[in-house]
Amino acid sequence: MNAVTELHPDVSHPELRSWWMPFTHNRMFKENPRLITKAKGAYYDLADGRRVFDCLSGLWCSPLGHSHPKLVKAIQEQVETLDFAPSFQMGHPTAFSLASRITKLAGRPNDSVFFCNSGSEAVDTALKIAVAYHRLRGEASRTRIIGRERGYHGVGLGGISVGGMVANRKMFAPLMIPGVDHLPHTWNPAEMAYSRGQPTWGAHLADDLERIIALHDASTIAAVILEPMQGSTGVIVPPQGYLQKIREICTKHGILLIFDEVITGFGRLGTPFASGFFGVDADLNTFAKAVNNAMVPLGGVLVREDIQQAFMTGPAHAIEFFHGYTYTGHPLAMAAAHATLDVMEEEKLIERSAALAPVLENAVHSLRGEPHVTDIRNIGLAAALELAPYPGMPGLKAINVFKNALNQGQMPRFTGDIIALAPPFISSESEVHEMIEGIRRALRATPVTL
Ligand SMILES: Cc1ncc(COP(=O)(O)O)c(C=O)c1O
Repeated sequence: MNAVTELHPDVSHPELRSWWMPFTHNRMFKENPRLITKAKGAYYDLADGRRVFDCLSGLWCSPLGHSHPKLVKAIQEQVETLDFAPSFQMGHPTAFSLASRITKLAGRPNDSVFFCNSGSEAVDTALKIAVAYHRLRGEASRTRIIGRERGYHGVGLGGISVGGMVANRKMFAPLMIPGVDHLPHTWNPAEMAYSRGQPTWGAHLADDLERIIALHDASTIAAVILEPMQGSTGVIVPPQGYLQKIREICTKHGILLIFDEVITGFGRLGTPFASGFFGVDADLNTFAKAVNNAMVPLGGVLVREDIQQAFMTGPAHAIEFFHGYTYTGHPLAMAAAHATLDVMEEEKLIERSAALAPVLENAVHSLRGEPHVTDIRNIGLAAALELAPYPGMPGLKAINVFKNALNQGQMPRFTGDIIALAPPFISSESEVHEMIEGIRRALRATPVTL
């Protein structure tokens, strides 16, 4: 029996080869695979017998924990009643009621929702809506999109074009959509290291949007797309007043503002959407992940009423928007989302996320002064540690901290030399403290130099 077969009877060494894993160092991983076999509540069981706390709620997507009985039941019942239904020229009640429910939760009951299956698809859908909207209104020259450095908007060709993470872009340059520009990112450690919540410095960085508009002319710009809080790049928190300024500039120039709320949607900041948290409305909000606790793939776009209405012209028998996916409005995804929203309401989990935020803030900032740590950022129920990299070996430090964290019963996320934390909303205060103490021990167990 080789080492891998010992880890799990269903996996043999040759089979490890076949799955080309996403966003993974495949060769290093397969030398020493980490297999997850089971999940319950806020914990994962690994094949080697370790049980670890789910410090990032899956990939920011399972705030209710795993295998919640109400969600399991809802999906079981749905699959027995209506397993699939086409959404092209047919509809099913659960999709309509979910869309209506989401608009109400967002406080925008007259808006509409377009469903897809992932965050990446939600972003590409929003970009299409923005460009088509201007064309329908007779402003076909508005085609440019403004993204932001370090932004993550998934891996579709639209998403990587407006995204700002160089590793996700550099290999695919010829495939990217034309006419995209980028705002500067807002992280400046000299001015804001160890800020709690929103940094006080940096609102002026939004003025760069005026510079970009002056360069291209507003008449060529369709939309600005931003994550209100940049999650995947390592919890970069918008400076106070920054998003308000972006909103004002967009409105002044007739440019749509898209908030990519794939991470912030459905409670991560303690409000249903980040728009509510920051008090800044977007025209289109993308969502995915937590909308149905990641039980079945689901994404979507919340669309301002008049934007959707702009499409409702022409003869009534004509299709208004040539866009959609086979699995748009998939009944299992809809049922899982209804059950998720039921549980969020019944167990007051968005409120609980808000209540846990200061617990996480105080706990995570106690890591200041620990080895490797050069910055700590937090907002809502999300936080990140910036680590000093090993010279010439970017990323390796965080990998080592991650492995040591697993030994401490904690499974955080690492990206570059950043450790990200976003515990499930069902976590207890003591689990948040245990998570931070486990990370502390992992930092101390990691050598400062190689
Ligand atoms: C802000 C944002 N947009 C889009 C995506 C892509 O979502 P998906 O992986 O579901 O395609 C992510 C994923 O983390 C994200 O954080």
